[in-house]
Amino acid sequence: MRTAGFSVPFPTGRHLAIVLGMGLLSPPIGSSHAATSPAAQRAVPPGVVATNLPGVHNAFCIGTNLFSGSSPATDEAFAALARAGVKTVLSVDGARPDVERARRYGLRYVHLPHGYDGIDPATQAQLARAGQELPGPIYVHCHHGLHRSPTAAAVMCLAGGNWTPEQALSSLAFAGTSTNYVGLYQTVREFPATQAARAAAPATPFVDTAKPSGLVEAMVAVDTRWDLLKAVKAAGFKAPPGSPDVQPAHEALMLSEHYREAARLPEVASRPADLRQRLEAADVAARDAERLLRDFARDPQPGIHADLERVFTNLGRQCTECHQRHRDKSSAGPSPGGRP
Ligand code: HEC
Repeated sequence: MRTAGFSVPFPTGRHLAIVLGMGLLSPPIGSSHAATSPAAQRAVPPGVVATNLPGVHNAFCIGTNLFSGSSPATDEAFAALARAGVKTVLSVDGARPDVERARRYGLRYVHLPHGYDGIDPATQAQLARAGQELPGPIYVHCHHGLHRSPTAAAVMCLAGGNWTPEQALSSLAFAGTSTNYVGLYQTVREFPATQAARAAAPATPFVDTAKPSGLVEAMVAVDTRWDLLKAVKAAGFKAPPGSPDVQPAHEALMLSEHYREAARLPEVASRPADLRQRLEAADVAARDAERLLRDFARDPQPGIHADLERVFTNLGRQCTECHQRHRDKSSAGPSPGGRP
């Protein structure tokens, strides 16, 4: 059985050309990467090429044994992965993988979810092991294939000793990973420094469906970000005096991601639709806060300050109102009196 084999030198353009010649991969499309700057394009490591896999978005391949892209959700997508020779589908997304459908196409799923604020060393070590031990080619995906899966793929390449951190950073730029996700970029930039922590992490068996992190965990994360954002507000919508490293807009971005991931949890799908709608509204409000905090950092106008006051008041109200409706009362539904 062929493993992904990241320990061998990376395929050169010639190898890639052979794969392309076999019709396994479509020629580079590049259109989904239009936002990438020419400088970043130039520095992109050899073998990183945008590819067209029907049914998924933002797909690119790294050499011949690793792909990155969006979540496959249809038969068309899994069939395309199988046609491209993929053997293992590695999800780094929180959603439950479609293990059954993958199996029908002869594909094995491995689930190693991580968030938008970076990949902890233990998960990095698991990704490294996945690259060494699992049958390849591997298709690594998150939800959209823009931010988390390119980072995971870069970690696998770094762990295989194939890339320098600089090359890994340019692969993120190529993939369109937003630099606003500072934790993802930091994971790649600080990869050499976290070697000892990776080595110390115990190897755990690969599973096709990780235990879902539930709404409670999402809320604990929301709570942490909100505490930081309250400190940001108290400091006049700037980094709090004692914590110069806090990046206000980034905290709001992470808050929005926690809400967005929460809205996609299976346990939320089985609860009243109002809960999901409120989580989505909270995501939108947190994105507004992010944008305003960025604008305010550039140009601290009173008008933006007033908008921030309003958005923060709304964000706080959303916690209370949603808790009243969905947390602080019986989950048995409306009382016999019929009041909602
Ligand atoms: C859209 C609805 C919604 C919004 C908005 C929301 N929450 Fe929650 N929160 C919940 C629900 C539902 C629970 C109960 C989860 C459970 O026990 O299953 C919860 C639980 C919690 C908990 C308890 C976690 C634990 O350890 O049990 C905390 C803390 C919390 N939320 C903080 C916040 C903060 C702070 C905000 C606003 C910044 C917020 N939440 C916004 C729905 C929401």
